[in-house]
Amino acid sequence: MKITCIIALAALVASSINNMALADGASLYVEKNCIACHGANGNKPVMDAYPRIGGQSEIYLLMQMKDIKTGTRNNNHALAMKNIMNNVPDEDMAAIASWLSRQIQ
Ligand code: HEC
Repeated sequence: MKITCIIALAALVASSINNMALADGASLYVEKNCIACHGANGNKPVMDAYPRIGGQSEIYLLMQMKDIKTGTRNNNHALAMKNIMNNVPDEDMAAIASWLSRQIQ
């Protein structure tokens, strides 16, 4: 009985953490204005030259965000996004990357 309760509690905590990450990523994506360029779910970019990022792997998305923020990834195009990233702390990037990776292309 005790074990069943512990398992049920653990499952509940795990699912609410997962839901929190999903909810945060979705609202941060709008709040931080990513949607202005990358469009709904990261898959409707406002210009053909802007990448589709919905459904991309989480780790890749996070790496690119960090590289653009730090200037490691640097071209005339990335500059459009770099200023935005200055207002996106690492934990927000992780939440957005997690949510984006679950969006269907
Ligand atoms: C002003 C327009 C603009 C805004 C706002 C913007 N981006 Fe971008 N983003 C771009 C452009 C342009 C590129 C491509 C840069 C390049 O070619 O190096 C890019 C690239 C990316 C990439 C890498 C994609 C790949 O395939 O390598 C990710 C991930 C990304 N953006 C996420 C975000 C997130 C998350 C936000 C919000 C916090 C955001 N962007 C806000 C324009 C924007």
